[in-house]
Amino acid sequence: MIRIILSGCNGKMGQVVTRICANDPSVKIVAGCDLYDKQLSDYPVYKSFDLIKEEGDVAVDFSNPNALEGLLAYCTSKKIPVVVATTGLNDKQKDMLKEASSVIPVFYSANMSLGINLLIELVKKTAVILEDQFDIEIIEKHHNQKIDAPSGTALAIADAINQAVKTPKNYTYDRHAVRKKRDKAEIGIHAVRGGTIVGEHSILFAGLDEVIEFRHQANSKEIFAAGAMKAVKFLADKPAGMYSMSDIFVV
Ligand SMILES: NC(=O)c1ccc[n+]([C@@H]2O[C@H](COP(=O)([O-])OP(=O)(O)OC[C@H]3O[C@@H](n4cnc5c(N)ncnc54)[C@H](O)[C@@H]3O)[C@@H](O)[C@H]2O)c1
Repeated sequence: MIRIILSGCNGKMGQVVTRICANDPSVKIVAGCDLYDKQLSDYPVYKSFDLIKEEGDVAVDFSNPNALEGLLAYCTSKKIPVVVATTGLNDKQKDMLKEASSVIPVFYSANMSLGINLLIELVKKTAVILEDQFDIEIIEKHHNQKIDAPSGTALAIADAINQAVKTPKNYTYDRHAVRKKRDKAEIGIHAVRGGTIVGEHSILFAGLDEVIEFRHQANSKEIFAAGAMKAVKFLADKPAGMYSMSDIFVV
């Protein structure tokens, strides 16, 4: 049985992970960490990592970028792998992940769902074929409680396209600030917020008189929690290093 330390345990995703783990005998949450340190489930909850008394085998993080430093300090000192699902990390925080990965296995994915990760592979292949002829635009939609914009997934899709194409493109966010025609060497990225939308991502390849659209719709948060649990089990026997969903879902 894998013992989990859950960061952000009292948030929306933390509670979904808690439900999923309760139905999976191969894992057990032994402690949680959350700024809101009420005990909502059957494991103790601490306000900071240095207060955790229980021993864990792996940490899972669905919290906030501000928690990252404490989380990585805890995991590297305990030498336990970490699955980071929190989005909105800045470049410095991404460097912190890389640094930690020289000591422990670090799994980072802005989107833990199978569907999105397959979509990214398909979009990369399409971009390689169409990069010179079609304009690429990414549109994402999320609920009105989401803090970061554009979504980490929209940025991950754009980054994946840029890694695949011959000539990497610049990102243009929305289009209200500059009044000029669209440049060929750009990917447009647009965020929509409203209601309870769990998460939608569309990638348009717009060419002369034809449009190809890839679209993924998440209907529940369970898909992300289930993906994070796959990552937990995947990391169990891995050496230190950086890992992502593409290591699990090889297309
Ligand atoms: N990678 C994925 O597949 C995926 C899927 C869904 C959500 N997410 C990301 O997971 C994160 C959490 O999402 P959510 O919807 O559960 O948000 P939420 O706001 O409902 O929950 C966040 C929790 O983290 C806690 N928290 C905030 N700052 C903290 C800190 N410094 N230390 C400890 N705890 C802290 C909050 O008290 C809260 O309980 C977000 O970044 C979101 O974008 C990732």
